[in-house]
Amino acid sequence: MGIRHNAETRIFSLATKNSTYQMLIDHYGRLLHLYYGPWTDGDARFTLTFTGRGFSGSPDGTDEDESYSLDTLPQEFPTLGTGDYRKPALIIRGGNGIYGCDLKYCKHEICKGKYSLPGLPAVYAGDEAQTLKITLRDETAEVEVILLYGVVPETDVITRSAVVRNIGSKEFYILRAQAANLDFMTGDFDLMTFYGRHGMERVPERQKVEHKSYEIGSRRGSSSHQYNPLLILAESEAGEEQGNCYAMEFVYSGGFEASAEKDQFNQIRMQMGLATTQFSYPVKSGESFIVPEVILSFSGEGLRKLSWNLADTIKKHVIRGKWKNQICPVLLNSWEAVYMDFDGQKIRELATEAKELGMDLLVLDDGWFGDRNDDHRSLGDWRVNEAKLGGNLRSLAEDIHRLGLLFGIWIEPEMVSENSHLYRQHPDWALKIPGKGPIRARHQLVLDFSRDDVVNGIYDQISAVLREGNIDYLKWDYNRNIADVYSARTEDQGKVLYDYVLGVYRFLERLHTDFPDLLIEGCSGGGGRFDAGMLYYTPQIWCSDNTDAIDRLTIQYGTSFGYPASAMGAHVSAVPNEQSGRSTPFATRGYIAMSGTFGYELDPGKLSQEERRSVREQICLRNELAELVHSGHYLRLTNPLKSHVAAWGFLSKDQKEAVFFAVVLDVHCNMPINYVRLSGLKSHALYINENDGVKYPSDVLMNTGLPLPRRKNDYNAYFWHLRMAEDDHK
Ligand code: GLA
Repeated sequence: MGIRHNAETRIFSLATKNSTYQMLIDHYGRLLHLYYGPWTDGDARFTLTFTGRGFSGSPDGTDEDESYSLDTLPQEFPTLGTGDYRKPALIIRGGNGIYGCDLKYCKHEICKGKYSLPGLPAVYAGDEAQTLKITLRDETAEVEVILLYGVVPETDVITRSAVVRNIGSKEFYILRAQAANLDFMTGDFDLMTFYGRHGMERVPERQKVEHKSYEIGSRRGSSSHQYNPLLILAESEAGEEQGNCYAMEFVYSGGFEASAEKDQFNQIRMQMGLATTQFSYPVKSGESFIVPEVILSFSGEGLRKLSWNLADTIKKHVIRGKWKNQICPVLLNSWEAVYMDFDGQKIRELATEAKELGMDLLVLDDGWFGDRNDDHRSLGDWRVNEAKLGGNLRSLAEDIHRLGLLFGIWIEPEMVSENSHLYRQHPDWALKIPGKGPIRARHQLVLDFSRDDVVNGIYDQISAVLREGNIDYLKWDYNRNIADVYSARTEDQGKVLYDYVLGVYRFLERLHTDFPDLLIEGCSGGGGRFDAGMLYYTPQIWCSDNTDAIDRLTIQYGTSFGYPASAMGAHVSAVPNEQSGRSTPFATRGYIAMSGTFGYELDPGKLSQEERRSVREQICLRNELAELVHSGHYLRLTNPLKSHVAAWGFLSKDQKEAVFFAVVLDVHCNMPINYVRLSGLKSHALYINENDGVKYPSDVLMNTGLPLPRRKNDYNAYFWHLRMAEDDHK
């Protein structure tokens, strides 16, 4: 395992527990990609073929060797300007107006530990990880690129990033910057993407890769509800438990592009990196630009293992701080309970109810600051509305803390309402094009977080509130996308979207340092910024504004392909559901929410006695299962989009304990019995169901499955908590 360089063959080999990644410095000094797949310590050079082909030119310096063309060879970091007509990873426009560069190997370095990226989130690891830095140069274009590879052996992850440096005297512009490029010479692949919309995020879609270019991305300034920055390439026969598959996941929260392209010779190129729209980043002489990181992972055992690799990486190597290894508190959120219609008395009542029912944290959502009684005003005025609360925040917080509850608040720091003191004082703090009316969304504008003074101004206000209230939890929201890309502080508007994201990270990093105990939950109208970049600062993210349990089955199923359940914000809400009007049983809502962070988003005062009993029982069950959900592996048993039953589970890493849930999606008269086939259990073992003490042979559970007793009514849920019987291995 680890990184090897063979000076004779000029091959770099990066090995994780189950995978190997190889590249070669070729005889002209270019860095070619050789192999990514199941572990090997062999040499994959024989896979390269050099054959002359029409309309694929040879670069200068090859003595017109027609068999050498970058249009057909697999590459590590293809650039525009080399005769490769596929998608480049890097496009530079030089100070002289000339496009392109042709990078050649210069030097490399292998170091202990995992590299970090100043100002940007990145996978971190101890000495079990290694870093490879390969420096490439084009002396004529005066461009240097340092390719960064981080190898995290245990989770089968290789990270990639690049630093682009100006080694000349003239400024150049970066027009396209992808962090990772993977060229496959052969193979029949399907592409999996995760699309969505507000209220329905990360719906998986799988399609065959044909001869064209497939591209997803976001031009919205954030990773977006519409496409998640996660791309999976799976061999056509790959399923949950078998087959080769590859993932790319962006550790970045701004606009992105991810693509897969099948070329004329059936080769596939997969890429992920920054969005190109409104991106044109100037790099002055001696300066550098950092391309945010992409996590790559390979699984030879299907999609399930691929998801475990990604989830484990996020849990162990992305999420930081006090809450990394802690079970998050069960919360009551005021939003769907009272929206902005509350006073201090009502919040105290909610807190008292929450405590009585066994919850740990009260979250005061939107509406506590400025004159915020509707969403037309006050964003930017982070001063407590003492008239509304009937006192200051300190006294409210003290009362809640005295009850034995933690206390949290909602903020949306990146936004400003035109109807606010902040906007009247600093109209230029908003992103807005001069001479043109702004594009409004939810009656608000986006603040120019590419500017330090703006970030600091908002930070000062918010940190004062956090101190006053001795706040334990923060919900960080972001309720619109950037449309007017214009900062009053720069000549180069092509920088703004990237610098904006760095500003958001700067703010979050300060919070992390100044308030190390604070639990931050990310949110963007639900899951509009659910990405590994945010998870570096916020260990959980509100999965969706849609709390309908049945829609949540799909949302959480899709999210599980790239992210751990412990990061998925999930709450039980009232029925009929506020978003869909659908009614589902209380137990069903509970099982689905306890498959994420767990909490309630309703007014407990409106619950019946029976529902109150259910809340208490649910909290007990959730606390019993929380460790398994937090640290175990997620099991996708069915695809809720294609099945009559949604079924999923969690498995302890030693396979001795598992919990399974199922929800029947369709009820019909005299319908066939639904069976749920379990997975992940040790074969030839017996498992005892904790609920009723019945012993089950694991092989039967995994082959025939568990029959679901027929019940009338929609959306009934079932649940099994299995423990392996220690004594009888059969
Ligand atoms: C967003 C969030 C909601 C709630 C509202 C408050 O929509 O996703 O959960 O916090 O904002 O305005």
